[in-house]
Amino acid sequence: MENDIKKVLVSNEEINDICKKLGKQISKDYEGKDLVIVGLLKGCLPFMSDLFKEVTIYAKIDYMRVSSYAGKESTGKIKILNDISFGVTDKDVLIVDDIIDTGLTLEKIKNLFLARKAKSVKTCVLLDKPEGRTTSINADYVGTTVPKEFVVGYGLDYNDYYRNLSYIGVLKEEVYQK
Ligand code: PRP
Repeated sequence: MENDIKKVLVSNEEINDICKKLGKQISKDYEGKDLVIVGLLKGCLPFMSDLFKEVTIYAKIDYMRVSSYAGKESTGKIKILNDISFGVTDKDVLIVDDIIDTGLTLEKIKNLFLARKAKSVKTCVLLDKPEGRTTSINADYVGTTVPKEFVVGYGLDYNDYYRNLSYIGVLKEEVYQK
C-alpha cells in the first residue's frame, strides 16, 4: 500500500500536533456549553478519535454516515446513510470531518442540524482544500490547508482504500489508471 504513495503532505507527527492544538481551542471555546461532537463517517474516524482525546471538557459524541464521492469526483448528491442517535435541539453541535473540499457535505449537514433547532452549529476539519470550494461555507476550526490534489490516508480514501495510512499523502498517477 505504501508503495502507491507519491509524497507525504501531512505527517503523523504534524497531525498529532494539530489534534492537540484544536482540542485545546475547542475545550476553551465550549467550556460550560452543552457540546455534542458529531463525526461524519467514514472519513472522520481517525481524526475524531485523536481529536476527542484532546478535548478536556464534558462532551458527548455521535456519528452520522454520509457519502457523496465516487472514485475521485464529488457526485454533488449528499446521501445520509446513517443518522445520529441523539436529538440536537438546544445542543451546541460541532461537526467533525476529515476534509472540506467543495463544501457540499458540511453545508448540507450544518443546515440539517440548524433545522433541527440546535443552539449552535460549528464545523471542524483536519484539512481544508479551499481551491475546491463550490459553496460559500468555510470550516470554523481547520487543522491545515492542502493544495488541489487528491489526497488519501488518515481516513481519506480512494475507492475505500488507504484510510488506514497514518499520514496524509498523494497517490501516484498510475494508481488511478489501474
Ligand atoms: C468525503 C469527506 C467529506 C467530504 C468532503 O466523504 O470525508 O465528508 O467528502 O467533500 P466535499 O466538501 O466536496 O463535500 P465521502 O463522501 O467520500 O465519504 P467517506 O467519508 O465515507 O469517504
